Amino acid sequence: MIKVLVTGANGQLGQSFRYWASRFPKFEFTFSDLPELDLTNDLQLTHYFEKNTTDYVFNCAAYTEVDKAEEEIVLAHKLNELAVKKLCELAKKHRFRLVHFSTDYVFDGTNENPYKETHPHAPQSVYGVSKSKGEQAILNADIDAWIVRTSWLFSPYGKNFVKTIFSLLQNKTEINVVADQTGAPTYAIDLAKSVLEALAQRSFGKKTSVYHITNEGITTWHEFALKIKELINSDCEIKPVATEDYPTLAKRPKYSVLSIEKFKKEFKIKSRSWEWVLADCLKKIKSES
Ligand SMILES: NC(=O)c1ccc[n+]([C@@H]2O[C@H](COP(=O)([O-])OP(=O)(O)OC[C@H]3O[C@@H](n4cnc5c(N)ncnc54)[C@H](OP(=O)(O)O)[C@@H]3O)[C@@H](O)[C@H]2O)c1
Repeated sequence: MIKVLVTGANGQLGQSFRYWASRFPKFEFTFSDLPELDLTNDLQLTHYFEKNTTDYVFNCAAYTEVDKAEEEIVLAHKLNELAVKKLCELAKKHRFRLVHFSTDYVFDGTNENPYKETHPHAPQSVYGVSKSKGEQAILNADIDAWIVRTSWLFSPYGKNFVKTIFSLLQNKTEINVVADQTGAPTYAIDLAKSVLEALAQRSFGKKTSVYHITNEGITTWHEFALKIKELINSDCEIKPVATEDYPTLAKRPKYSVLSIEKFKKEFKIKSRSWEWVLADCLKKIKSES
């Protein structure tokens, strides 16, 4: 059995690993989150790895409130950078492998083609900077790790765009959605499955690898919302607005599509289209509402 510790296990991605756990019997999962395993608490972390044997850590814990991070800079860095540094130290000492999740927001969004894994970082927000520094900590530590970048996560769990729009469409007659930011929506349930399938195929190399995993296809937030509207048959009007007409604390990339060719080629794992998996997600959200 391969022992896996999932941190931040109550978040979107953490719950998506829970969803698959029983279907991957090769892995023995331990799911942890606040308060029992606080990644910003060095003593708690150190103690955990002294008491427990772990082969892999899937680090799903993160400070993900992109706008709030502009005001909670210290907190964002504590979790997205310093805790990752500590995990690297512990990975070296206790010889576990790290699967760490990161974001399209490490890029500046000026590209016109999908970002490759090697593209230089140029984050535009506190969240992006903190995630970029977390990645850098792993690369500097020179450990067996995967950095898995993803984008525009949605799922039946936690807080995300699909759940927000689903609820607004039922309670409003008109909403505004930004139409000039382009990205690749990613179903957290598919992302978790892809990672498990890839790890089941083969283990790590001797150094850190960076992969991009998203669903297939690109869109804007506005088109994404229109698709949700179509699938739930709503009458609410969805008006396209420009980023400058919808001011937010954090700057977001205009274009943050990640190239997923490397992952697809190395593991021969197909990615489903975001429209296809959106229907599945909405079915799950409806059954819970
Ligand atoms: N969400 C997106 O659109 C998106 C896009 C690209 C990349 N990503 C990356 O994908 C990964 C997973 O994102 P997600 O959407 O699943 O995040 P999420 O839903 O916000 O989950 C993060 C989890 O970490 C927990 N957590 C917070 N502080 C912690 C601490 N000190 N110690 C341990 N756990 C702590 C959170 O608990 P509380 O809820 O109680 O704070 C939550 O359960 C992250 O690395 C994120 O940066 C996300």
